[in-house]
Amino acid sequence: MKARKIVDEMDSYVPGKSQDEIAQDFNLKKEDIIKLGSNENPWGPSPKAMDAIKQEINTINRYPESQLGELASEIARYSGVDDSQVIIGGDGADEIIDVLAKTFIDAGDEFIVPLPSYMYYEYLLKQYGASPIYARWDIEKNELDVDSIYNAITDKTKMIFLCSPNNPNGALIDQEVFIDIASKNPNILIVIDEAYFEYSEVTNKDLINEFNNVFIIRTFSKVLGLAGMRIGYGLACSEIIEYMHRIKPVFSITRLSFIAALNTLKDTEYIENSIKKGIESRQYLYDEISKIDGLFVFPSKSNFMLINIKETGFTASELALELMKQGIIVRDCTSFKGLDEYWIRISICTLDEDKKFIEILKEVLG
Ligand SMILES: Cc1ncc(COP(=O)(O)O)c(C=O)c1O
Repeated sequence: MKARKIVDEMDSYVPGKSQDEIAQDFNLKKEDIIKLGSNENPWGPSPKAMDAIKQEINTINRYPESQLGELASEIARYSGVDDSQVIIGGDGADEIIDVLAKTFIDAGDEFIVPLPSYMYYEYLLKQYGASPIYARWDIEKNELDVDSIYNAITDKTKMIFLCSPNNPNGALIDQEVFIDIASKNPNILIVIDEAYFEYSEVTNKDLINEFNNVFIIRTFSKVLGLAGMRIGYGLACSEIIEYMHRIKPVFSITRLSFIAALNTLKDTEYIENSIKKGIESRQYLYDEISKIDGLFVFPSKSNFMLINIKETGFTASELALELMKQGIIVRDCTSFKGLDEYWIRISICTLDEDKKFIEILKEVLG
């Protein structure tokens, strides 16, 4: 049986090694492994969410409710938008990107991604027959090369993905840039990925009231501590949201995800603490890494930071392997288009884990 041509030509997405595999391969205890590779919340989920899940557990023989109104209202309150401007996805923000593609992409369309950035946009949109056109981040200046976006626009451009703070370098894009691009290109959807906005304390969500071609992506996987529950959401004018609801999988948000998301948003103390501790950890890591000879670290507005290691004599895959042997997982960025083989990305951890990481990093670098 022959698969669709696009599928036939695609490589599978290869996720990183699991903690179990790493523990086994390097003879480590799973609980001693320090994860700095996936930009998660290291302080665990909200206690209120965990209690609510326990209460809900005896209903999982039933389908989820297809009406997500209560959660949409809570997200609207959290985000300061109207209920009709919210869509919720059950495979995290990744499902939102997928539904966006299914709603707006025709085969032959183009989309623009400045490199380096989150690689999953490309992985998903290609499945619908769209082609990526690459713009660029000016890595030396650590800012978006705005001209490269304008130069990449053609009459086939359907979407422009702009991640702010950008993964993997943690820099923000000025709001004037979004306004300029959105106002000059009313037929192109400007997708602003705010997966990490809480750590930057900056949002562009008000633009959805001014422009009907701006879409904001958000997730429960980062500050909100629910990466394992897979919940994301999008904010846009109600016309876009209504189109997307026509084709979004009806039951993709499980009962447990729903209840966890709802109760996390009500746990203001947990959210505020996660942001505060995250910013403290980021500052500590940035200060300590800046002092290490041979490393160059970018200041970040997110929960991760990008480090150039070229002067250490290691490549990123060599350094990641040496750290992994000591139970530390970092992100080797070699697979990020737009970066060479000398970049790693690390994410925030608890202060004890941060200290242990810095100690081991210094040891490995010698
Ligand atoms: C920039 C960016 N957008 C979206 C996502 C997807 O998040 P989710 O876990 O909600 O699918 C990630 C995940 O790492 C990300 O870094």
